[in-house]
Amino acid sequence: MYSSSLLAFALTGANVVLGASSASYASRPPFSTIAPSLSQVVAAEATASALSPTSNVSGKGFDRIIQIWLENTDYEKAFEDPNLQALAKQGISLTNYWGVTHPSEPNYAASVAGDYFGMENDDFISIAANVSTVVDLLDTKGISWGEYQESLPYAGYTGFNFTNQQNTSNNDYVRKHNPLILFDSVANNATRLSLIKNFTSFYSDLAAKTLPQWSFITPNMTNDGHDTTITFAASWAKTFLTPLLNNTYLMNNTLIILSFDEVETYTAQNKVFTILLGGAIPDSAKGTTDNTFYTHYSTLSTVEMNWGLPSLGRWDCGANVLQVVANKTGYTNQVVDTTNLYLNVSYPGPLSDKAYIPTWPAPNTNAKCVAGNGVLGGIVSTWGKSDGTYNYTNVFPSVAAGVASTPTASASGTAVKSGTPTGSAAAGATSSGAASLNAVNVGAGVAALVAAFL
Ligand SMILES: *[C@@H]1O[C@H](CO)[C@@H](O)[C@H](O)[C@H]1NC(C)=O
Ligand SMILES: *[C@@H]1O[C@H](CO)[C@@H](O)[C@H](O)[C@H]1NC(C)=O
Ligand SMILES: *[C@@H]1O[C@H](CO)[C@@H](O)[C@H](O)[C@H]1NC(C)=O
Ligand SMILES: *[C@@H]1O[C@H](CO)[C@@H](O)[C@H](O)[C@H]1NC(C)=O
Ligand SMILES: *[C@@H]1O[C@H](CO)[C@@H](O)[C@H](O)[C@H]1NC(C)=O
Ligand SMILES: *[C@@H]1O[C@H](CO)[C@@H](O)[C@H](O)[C@H]1NC(C)=O
Ligand SMILES: *[C@@H]1O[C@H](CO)[C@@H](O)[C@H](O)[C@H]1NC(C)=O
Ligand SMILES: *[C@@H]1O[C@H](CO)[C@@H](O)[C@H](O)[C@H]1NC(C)=O
Ligand SMILES: *[C@@H]1O[C@H](CO)[C@@H](O)[C@H](O)[C@H]1NC(C)=O
Ligand SMILES: *[C@@H]1O[C@H](CO)[C@@H](O)[C@H](O)[C@H]1NC(C)=O
Ligand SMILES: *[C@@H]1O[C@H](CO)[C@@H](O)[C@H](O)[C@H]1NC(C)=O
Ligand SMILES: *[C@@H]1O[C@H](CO)[C@@H](O)[C@H](O)[C@H]1NC(C)=O
Repeated sequence: MYSSSLLAFALTGANVVLGASSASYASRPPFSTIAPSLSQVVAAEATASALSPTSNVSGKGFDRIIQIWLENTDYEKAFEDPNLQALAKQGISLTNYWGVTHPSEPNYAASVAGDYFGMENDDFISIAANVSTVVDLLDTKGISWGEYQESLPYAGYTGFNFTNQQNTSNNDYVRKHNPLILFDSVANNATRLSLIKNFTSFYSDLAAKTLPQWSFITPNMTNDGHDTTITFAASWAKTFLTPLLNNTYLMNNTLIILSFDEVETYTAQNKVFTILLGGAIPDSAKGTTDNTFYTHYSTLSTVEMNWGLPSLGRWDCGANVLQVVANKTGYTNQVVDTTNLYLNVSYPGPLSDKAYIPTWPAPNTNAKCVAGNGVLGGIVSTWGKSDGTYNYTNVFPSVAAGVASTPTASASGTAVKSGTPTGSAAAGATSSGAASLNAVNVGAGVAALVAAFL
């Protein structure tokens, strides 16, 4: 799908410095910034409804998946935390799992949609209704889903933030950490809004045994470490999870992914410490490490393979699948040389405000994807049959032709053009990684897109 030279080029990370060429981007149209008043929030709460549908569609590697994200912590700091170490002993440590860019919001968006569409900010973003997410895939088999967002004032709240009225010194809830609410395909649907709930609902769903099969849990800004420290967040995580890990209802063939949205140091590789826990982890694997290359997109490809679902046709399509499922299906993951991989800068796109390009990229609607089920029919009918090349050279010919400039220095760090990639230089940098990323697709995204700039 992608040429190796472009892929490899993108993998050269530090050397892939975006060109500081002449033309500039158009301004991104402003987004709404509805910040409801407290009285409006209270009024809306009175009519909001929370739903808790259940299902029990069995999967190849697990019957339930729960993702919990903490915030902004470098790999080593997380790895060394004693509470996370204690949790790791009860599960599998992923030592090569990556965030896909900076800052927070694009990572959350990517985890449910398989792309971040150029986003490099934490703005009040609403993503076009024709962009599908994992919930469209889950719905094809009636697999129940939901989110638990701590300190969300009521189910389906769409505001930018919510501050605890008992202690107004901090924002408790922030929209940028709520992956599904960012998508109009979710936010314009009342049923879907009622599945985006808070921790009050988590505990009532647990007690009533009405937890969904797919869920995403976001602690508030205190508990996730954003406004505190890794020590605080890890302690919260251990305290939160310890009783849950002994709950036979909750743990029944459940996979918990405890991860981070991104690392804190932007010049570091964006590899985030991640722990797999729960009843779906075989006893023989507890306390082990897994050095397979994964990204946030792997959570999508894993769900797709686990339940035999179609793909979104975006960067989920070729992403490595967690071994807990791959082992059961005989799927062989790609080996990726990450020596010079950073995943620390966003490519341009329709959600970028520094490198804004108005066109929404089409998914690859022809691909079979790693789970082998092709792309969701509704996506194919919306976006049309593509020729199998999901790349910005295709979608944004003007960028490829060098008409548009690259992000500004503030967007890209040191924005200095270091030269045009050549096949041999690229191959020299990452010969094995190049070939494998071609299939893995993830780094490929960054690769082709960054390369398209130059
Ligand atoms: C993008 O797609 C076009 C047209 O299908 C193809 O010619 C080009 O080589 C592709 N670019 C990359 C980077 O794969
Ligand atoms: C499985 O689903 C069926 C049909 O929805 C339901 O009757 C049953 O209670 C469910 N079992 C569990 C364990 O959730
Ligand atoms: C959680 O959401 C429920 C249902 O929308 C609401 O009644 C409740 O007040 C919320 N709890 C907190 C702590 O915000
Ligand atoms: C959102 O955050 C702003 C700034 O911190 C604060 O003034 C406002 O009250 C918050 N909104 C809500 C609904 O909590
Ligand atoms: C309010 O929250 C801040 C930040 O989390 C914390 O430092 C402070 O102790 C809290 N105050 C009270 C009265 O709980
Ligand atoms: C609204 O969401 C529900 C639950 O995900 C889904 O079944 C339904 O098809 C959606 N409706 C529309 C019009 O998209
Ligand atoms: C975050 O949630 C906890 C409950 O788990 C709550 O006690 C705390 O007040 C919230 N954070 C802040 C800053 O208020
Ligand atoms: C949880 O279960 C494990 C064994 O499955 C047991 O060793 C441990 O004591 C239990 N912890 C609690 C708090 O019940
Ligand atoms: C676990 O799930 C299976 C399949 O749904 C069910 O048969 C079994 O009773 C469940 N066990 C517990 C302890 O809930
Ligand atoms: C990404 O990391 C490289 C290597 O450390 C660094 O040169 C570059 O400035 C970083 N980019 C950003 C946006 O921080
Ligand atoms: C997957 O298979 C490998 C090789 O047999 C094994 O080492 C690993 O523990 C397995 N992982 C899981 C989660 O089953
Ligand atoms: C998707 O929606 C965006 C924004 O409304 C629009 O610009 C674009 O043309 C749509 N694409 C397709 C294939 O419908």
